[in-house]
Amino acid sequence: MKILVATEKPFAPAAVELIREVAEKSGNEFTLLEKYTEKQQLLDAVADADALIVRSDKVTQEVVDAAKNLKIVVRAGAGYDNLDLAACSARNIVAMNTPGQNSNAVAELALGMMVFMARNEFNGKAGSELRGKKIGIHAYGNVGRYVGIIAKGFGMEVFAFDPFVDKAVIENDGVTVLGSVEELYSTCQYISLHIPANDKTKGSINFDLLNKMPKGATLVNTARKEVINEEDMIRLMDTRDDFMYLSDIAPNNADEFAAKFAGRFFFTPKKMGAQTSEANINAGVAAANQIVKFFADGDETFRVNK
Ligand code: 3PG
Repeated sequence: MKILVATEKPFAPAAVELIREVAEKSGNEFTLLEKYTEKQQLLDAVADADALIVRSDKVTQEVVDAAKNLKIVVRAGAGYDNLDLAACSARNIVAMNTPGQNSNAVAELALGMMVFMARNEFNGKAGSELRGKKIGIHAYGNVGRYVGIIAKGFGMEVFAFDPFVDKAVIENDGVTVLGSVEELYSTCQYISLHIPANDKTKGSINFDLLNKMPKGATLVNTARKEVINEEDMIRLMDTRDDFMYLSDIAPNNADEFAAKFAGRFFFTPKKMGAQTSEANINAGVAAANQIVKFFADGDETFRVNK
């Protein structure tokens, strides 16, 4: 079977070599398309692929149509909002993710951005510390859990809200569970966002919710920019000069932030939460192994479509 790795934002070279090894040792063929700039390059590359490994690359209806032999696509990472699941299901293509594999990297970036901005971008002026501050983890999945662990190391008080995770599981980590999303936002000076982007969550982080945060608030978004109501965020930061927004990838209206809110925002130039060699190896190799197992014995663990 032909396994294609198609990544606009490439994996670390060590990860690519390990993926190649997994593919070839199991008797499969390995092909690579990296740093492509045109959609057509992706459409051409998938034409004869039996399996596809992607990152945030968009696997649309058009890509599925072009991939005549495709049987499985694995998003090497957590969020699969880039996969058209209905298009995959209609062709009986199995879609998977690799949950947990890059979570620590994303969590380290969340805390890293917090320290960077609490210390005024290391510009020499007196900033503030994280110790003793309250952090609210909005959705307690793999990344949220790591954020909690690291935040505790900083001496922060850790709170969480996640209606889909058993309260006892969160409490077992020494994290205080709050009863509603509103309570989380009104309690915590720092909020770290870890909700997926879907029809229910897009635009859900709005003015009313953000405005509940206490004075000196910082919202850290290593989830998806789409979950933020960007107009509301601008309106909020216009009315509250104590509010800071940190995001792994710039919002669509980034220019407006630059013009109005100097020193109160930080955006990575390219989504880089999962951009570590370790995360690339973990997620990339997991994706390759999942494909090999699927071809060998039909294993569909981590399937995300029906
Ligand atoms: C994820 O959902 O796993 C992260 O957002 C990482 O995305 P990336 O592989 O595009 O860096």
